[in-house]
Amino acid sequence: MTVDIRVPFLDLAPPHLEIRSELLDAMTRVLDSNRFVLGQQVEIFESAWAKYCDVTHAVGIGNGLDALHLILRAIGVGPGDEVIVPANTFIATWLAVTMCGATPVSVEPNPETFNIDPGLIRDAVTSRTKAIIAVHLYGQPADLDELIAVSTELGLSLVEDAAQAHGALYKGKRIGGHGVAAAWSFYPGKNLGALGDGGAVTTNDPELAEKVRLLRNYGSPAKYEHTVQGVNSRLDELQAAVLLEKLKVLDEWNGRRASIAEAYTTALEPLVRKGEGSSGGRLLSLPAVPSWAKPVWHLYVIRVAQRDDFISYLLSQGIETSIHYPIPPASQDAYKELAHGLKSGFSVRTAGELVSLPIGPHLNQDQARLVVSACEVFFEGEDLGPRER
Ligand SMILES: Cc1ncc(COP(=O)(O)O)c(C=O)c1O
Repeated sequence: MTVDIRVPFLDLAPPHLEIRSELLDAMTRVLDSNRFVLGQQVEIFESAWAKYCDVTHAVGIGNGLDALHLILRAIGVGPGDEVIVPANTFIATWLAVTMCGATPVSVEPNPETFNIDPGLIRDAVTSRTKAIIAVHLYGQPADLDELIAVSTELGLSLVEDAAQAHGALYKGKRIGGHGVAAAWSFYPGKNLGALGDGGAVTTNDPELAEKVRLLRNYGSPAKYEHTVQGVNSRLDELQAAVLLEKLKVLDEWNGRRASIAEAYTTALEPLVRKGEGSSGGRLLSLPAVPSWAKPVWHLYVIRVAQRDDFISYLLSQGIETSIHYPIPPASQDAYKELAHGLKSGFSVRTAGELVSLPIGPHLNQDQARLVVSACEVFFEGEDLGPRER
């Protein structure tokens, strides 16, 4: 059966169409400048991004994984060290640690917020622990004051993985400057996305910023001089020029995400844990937003019993969904030696229940209503046969 997709999970074409001429002008500027790597556009973007994040320094990097990796290298994480990481995150958070030769130590999330539980960190710390990476997962700021308190008490560096949370506020202050440094991804589907790969590090520490600048460019302070073994991971001029245009609409596009999230939460709240519909499906939880958080809704993740049936039903109604993430890092083959004994935590138990509803600047309120109606039918257990709505 083929269905017309009425609510795509992600579609970059409509938002890009809104600013198409600005994007083309930006790309033309780079072409005409005849400078493609580490030029003026990157410098201007770095200043603009630092200002937006309310920090003193931003350094453009080739992607979010390298941004995390270079922060860890800059703070001296290396072989033999351990780094606390969330059990439920995209694998890049763990890969950045193993790229340094260090060991990721998994800590489970708070079951309501899905962000790392600061209360569980002390038990995971050993004499080899160097740092904590807090991910602002799904665009929801992590519990930063608690994380700062734990990391200060234990003498650890707090690193923010902000790859999913461009513009999120913690107690009214932008994320990106709360720990020693923050890593950003500008992968196209992110809230601030380039037209290819891109990333950045933000920090208030000038020395750390300088180290990352050196590391991203072959460890080279001057042409053909190399003081450390760096990498090649620079945000390029084309992506920086594009990001400058997209930064102008970031708040507006985040606002659209927020109004879709509000529509979902308002309509779905009464359905949570209300008993099973005839489908056998149950809505187990909606995203929880603590009073101190202003999220940016990179994803709207719910937990559902009978997930596969739910996903199929929504698809039959022309609604795409996704799963973030079906297999936690500890259960991935890539970490099968490391993750011994980590297979029973909250993150593993709930991985089979997570569903991401469509959200993004490509959607309108009519499409949000289609999603809500389909959820109501599924969870309230009305006849699930094909229907026109
Ligand atoms: C939480 C998290 N960390 C890190 C990354 C890595 O970013 P990139 O894909 O730009 O390397 C991502 C991107 O998908 C992410 O979602």
